[in-house]
Amino acid sequence: MAHPRLYSGMQPSSGSLHLGNYIGALQQWRGLQQDHDAFFSIVDLHAITVPQAPDVLREQVRTLAAQYIAGGIDPDRACLYVQSHVAAHAQLAWLLGTITGFGEASRMTQFKDKTARGGQEAASVGLFTYPILMAADILLYDAEIVPVGDDQKQHVELTRDLAERFNKRFGPTFTIPKPRILADGARIYDLQDPKAKMSKSADNDKGIVWLLDDPAKTAKKIRSAVTDTDGAIRADKESKPGVTNLLDILSAMTGTPVADLEAHFDGQGYGVFKTEVADAVVAELAPVRERTLELLADPAELDRLLAANADRAAEVADATLARAMGAMGLR
Ligand code: AMP
Ligand code: TRP
Repeated sequence: MAHPRLYSGMQPSSGSLHLGNYIGALQQWRGLQQDHDAFFSIVDLHAITVPQAPDVLREQVRTLAAQYIAGGIDPDRACLYVQSHVAAHAQLAWLLGTITGFGEASRMTQFKDKTARGGQEAASVGLFTYPILMAADILLYDAEIVPVGDDQKQHVELTRDLAERFNKRFGPTFTIPKPRILADGARIYDLQDPKAKMSKSADNDKGIVWLLDDPAKTAKKIRSAVTDTDGAIRADKESKPGVTNLLDILSAMTGTPVADLEAHFDGQGYGVFKTEVADAVVAELAPVRERTLELLADPAELDRLLAANADRAAEVADATLARAMGAMGLR
């Protein structure tokens, strides 16, 4: 029997992924690609909804592709491609925009969050219609399952609404997707500010472990993580966010449940604990970093691989686009 179709993507909007992306996205996707027909995209059309430098964008797309592969996405099994290489994304987004209510789009909280600082007047229309492009991504591939963090859940709900509306108005065309929301322990927090999500846009670099940091730097960041003064190594998100975050990180690195780690560290101090966490993270990430650098040393090969996968993706996407256009009376 065919595996269920799965779709997810990340923006090439930083020079490297961080530990939160690794645990919250790559590790999950790596597992899911085994028993799903998976498509993973590098959503560069989403990345240009905020100002970008062309050369930097090009580099960031390659780096993200290399990090996907180094982190375990198998480009022969899953389809790993760049969104802008497949023209159908922008085309379907236009069609879907015509059935999206202005009020409906205005209720998307991410747009409100992203414009909270600079104001909506300064934001691009592309940033406003971003969720419609995301809906096009998902619907083009008839994805049944969309693994995302909870901040993207509203966009997947919008995708479902648009697909249902389209099908009702124009006849059965799209598969209705379901979000698959990240488990609590897979959400990683800032090492210096453990109540805040680890995020590429944080001000303090010491709180973020970048996958391209060298091993010594990674170990140092973890050993300097903010904890608390109570001294007990146990998970308690409310009163011990720093220790809980380190336990979640160690659990993700080793596959050991948090409860077993608590038992293992019973009576130990934070120094020993942090050293073990640092060692485990370095053991996991050092080979990923090395493989990434190797892949980046041969950009022509990386580009060839992305082009081949874009052809695979376009075959699926073009067929869906033709179906949607036909249903709407455009072809
Ligand atoms: P972003 O870096 O916000 O573009 O997110 C890219 C992917 O990484 C999404 O699937 C997020 O859910 C995931 N992600 C981002 N930050 C974290 C974090 N701190 N912990 C776990 N997953 C994260
Ligand atoms: N908007 C998503 C994010 O910022 C990235 C994304 C774009 C995506 N298209 C998608 C995720 C389709 C899942 C499915 O994380």
